[in-house]
Amino acid sequence: MIEQENKDRLEEPKFASVAVTGGAGFIGSNLLLRLVPKYPRVRFVNIDCLTYAANLSNLASIESAENYSFERVDIAESDTVRDCFARHDFDAVIHLAAESHVDRSIMGPRRFVETNVLGTFNLLESARAVMEEKPHFRFHHVSTDEVYGSLGETGYFTEESSYDPNSPYSASKAASDHLVNSYHVTYGLDTVITNCCNNYGPYQFPEKLIPLMVRNAVKRMKLPVYGDGSNVRDWLHVEDHCAGLEAVFNQGRPGETYVIGGNCEVANIDLVKQITAILQKSLESEPLDSLIEFVADRPGHDHRYAIDASKIRNELGWRPSYDFESGLQQTIAWYLDNEEWVENCVSGEYRSYYEQMYTNR
Ligand code: NAD
Ligand code: DAU
Repeated sequence: MIEQENKDRLEEPKFASVAVTGGAGFIGSNLLLRLVPKYPRVRFVNIDCLTYAANLSNLASIESAENYSFERVDIAESDTVRDCFARHDFDAVIHLAAESHVDRSIMGPRRFVETNVLGTFNLLESARAVMEEKPHFRFHHVSTDEVYGSLGETGYFTEESSYDPNSPYSASKAASDHLVNSYHVTYGLDTVITNCCNNYGPYQFPEKLIPLMVRNAVKRMKLPVYGDGSNVRDWLHVEDHCAGLEAVFNQGRPGETYVIGGNCEVANIDLVKQITAILQKSLESEPLDSLIEFVADRPGHDHRYAIDASKIRNELGWRPSYDFESGLQQTIAWYLDNEEWVENCVSGEYRSYYEQMYTNR
């Protein structure tokens, strides 16, 4: 009954014009592929500066939709953001644009502060200006569970967890969360924040654990496991994350935070072995575990993340639909079927970063 009511409310377009930042990235692409066809009366503008992590080709199936358009904007540039807001009559922002990779933040933190902190601030300032005419302007900030730091062997992150970020990436996301909250408390901006666990699925840039291991194994390259591989992550399929984002965007209470998790904790080494087992079967290959190599640990490597998602489950009726085993199989099949997409990602700028990473370890 509650689920049906929630479903009905989701179908109502509350906002006529929505800016989605970072829409050419992994989660942003999946989100636009879900929302653009589902809400034909809502105009979606994808705001993205197209870093190495962006792939507009992900959006081929919606690029000519009447309710979709793209603006190349660097959110770190305040004038450009202001101009973009002046050209569109936005009612809301779903803010995903970010530098998202922890290892990169360790090698070069400046861009993380510029995009994740200053970029969020620029968007908040533009939203504050619009708010004078549109008091119900909604700002949905998409954030991470990494802002809460590292868990020991037990316990879960909840909306009440203290901020305790350890990497330049998570510190920059924590700073942006605080700015967003401050605009709600100080100016009354209608904000919602979601802090999600590790996502997996199609269109993830192959610097992240799962697509990196798939590509390396297919090429019979080393599978670099940091430290002893005992670090634990909570995994959620990206489509389930996007369903959670949709629910919070449409129905989340102003000023509230919602943590989103998959209730699916896996140690890195076990995950890598799961990947090699699936690949061995799919490729009918020799055993691939011998490619695993334990390498120098990530500095400040958080030990464990795990989420208690009771609030979004109870308030908004959200729950994951994928089980990890079949989600992982589907994901690996997607990467095997889309080798060209993967190879396009790892050419150029990325290749030099990748080579630097692995000669340093
Ligand atoms: P991604 O790196 O795949 O994509 C980021 C996108 O943002 C890219 O298209 C990039 O071009 C764009 N971008 C970066 N800097 C920009 C700038 N200055 N101006 C405009 N656009 C810019 O990231 P993702 O994995 O899709 O993550 C999206 C959001 O979700 C991030 O805010 C991230 O912190 C958050 N998040 C990610 C995960 C995860 O597991 N991937 C989990 C929780 C939260
Ligand atoms: O928890 C949410 C976060 O998940 C998001 O906010 C980040 O944007 C996203 O990148 C992800 O961060 P992680 O650092 O957890 O993801 P990554 O894929 O980089 O690493 C996952 C785990 O695997 C982590 O414990 C480090 C380890 N690892 C990673 C790589 C790339 C390895 O052991 N070897 C590797 O080569």
